[in-house]
Amino acid sequence: MTTAPDPSPVPLAPLTSLTPLPRFPRDFLWGVSTSAQQIEGAVDEDGRGRSAWDAFADGPGRIKDGSDARVATDHYHRYREDVALLRGLGVGAYRFSVSWPRIVPDGRGAVNPAGLDFYDRLVDELLAAGVEPVPTLFHWDTPQALETGDIGGSIAGGGSVAGRGSVAGGGWLARETSEHFAAYADTVAARLGDRVDRWITLNEPAELTLLGYGLGQHAPGRRLVFDALPAAHHQLLGHGLAVQALRARGATNIGIANSHGPTWPASRTEADSAAAALYDVLLNRLFADPLLLGRYPDEELAALLPGPVADDLKIISQPLDWYGINYYQPTLVGAPDPAAAGPAEFGGISLPPELPFAPREIEDRPRTDFGWPVVPEALTELLLSFRERYGASLPPVLITENGCAYDGVEDPDRITFLDAHLRALHDALSAGVDVRGYFVWSLMDNFEWAEGYARRFGLVHIDYRTLTRTPKSSYHWLRDTLRDQARG
Ligand code: NOJ
Repeated sequence: MTTAPDPSPVPLAPLTSLTPLPRFPRDFLWGVSTSAQQIEGAVDEDGRGRSAWDAFADGPGRIKDGSDARVATDHYHRYREDVALLRGLGVGAYRFSVSWPRIVPDGRGAVNPAGLDFYDRLVDELLAAGVEPVPTLFHWDTPQALETGDIGGSIAGGGSVAGRGSVAGGGWLARETSEHFAAYADTVAARLGDRVDRWITLNEPAELTLLGYGLGQHAPGRRLVFDALPAAHHQLLGHGLAVQALRARGATNIGIANSHGPTWPASRTEADSAAAALYDVLLNRLFADPLLLGRYPDEELAALLPGPVADDLKIISQPLDWYGINYYQPTLVGAPDPAAAGPAEFGGISLPPELPFAPREIEDRPRTDFGWPVVPEALTELLLSFRERYGASLPPVLITENGCAYDGVEDPDRITFLDAHLRALHDALSAGVDVRGYFVWSLMDNFEWAEGYARRFGLVHIDYRTLTRTPKSSYHWLRDTLRDQARG
């Protein structure tokens, strides 16, 4: 395998080649996803506290287009219009996230009733539109008051790592954050639990750990590399404690949304295989094994984690009703090349020299506007590998995110992408993997984190000057596809 970047992206197959999708089970759950920080705006309204992303975006040079999420798509004020779009699309479910700093502005302590009122209205609007509300309790918008660790005592200095000295810091480096998260989960469940059936605790703890605490690319902008690992453990612990809180409120339909993708070794050499296996541990197994098997994938790694890890694992591994997978792309990984000139870089992120693996470009594949390779069959591979790895410990699966960044209201490439991924998903179903639903990321264009507004993942186009919503061709395609499926 060569490793040079692909100079000429391969075009996607033309739309005319599409034949009707295979039939999915009648009770298959079709949905779309968003998250609070990416769409709501209204960051200073009705008592919302500051989030780590508000603070991060204020720093110079952190968001590529110099933007922030102060207004985003203004969903906070336009949610009725957005629910009408969901109804028009014909999806059965809408995955959104609840903003922790809107509910508990300081991350712990006083609850902001106006924040709860917003989700109350949203849930009622969804139910009236015949769309199941599927809230995610945490999608990266940590209350900034916890992140700075300066709200009084116990948080500052949390996150000491056994055997590695101590990593100062609050946020998810501090064990207390897991407990504050569970208290917040309880508050939300108390208010919405009479109308919400299906709950998601966390979104992609792997990305928050890696990009937020490891590489400094996302909020809170820490570049701790392997010292970021406590943030992974504390998120998993927070998940477990939140599951307990939700169960105590009677919830019976709980999952998590973890990002996963196959990891391919760049060659058959031992060095590349070992590098790819380590990457697989960090992206996939570090987050799935504790949840599904009740253990960390590697003893050495577990020894780097803080707290009574064995006891924590009992909390982390409580049975889930389903397991959510966000799938975007596989990763090709090799050993670092000692002869490579200059600092390592991948996908625009500068990588610390001490990383024992090096992601490589996947060639000969079409690419999205983000530069991500389009590899639908890797979704089938991923699902089959999960079944193989976790066997009976794997509950039914929901694909909680899948999608792509392309510009334009006419977006044939997104249709081709979604069509191909649904076929790949169907292949996994045919092979007997128990997949119960599929959510497109995203309902609408939104604040794509460090990329700002430049990457458009929506089925609905947002004009950021006027905040006008315009359904794209992919929206109409999905609507027609869902109608066809419903005709069964
Ligand atoms: C996964 C994240 O959950 C979501 O917030 C993000 O926008 C998409 N990936 C696309 O990058």
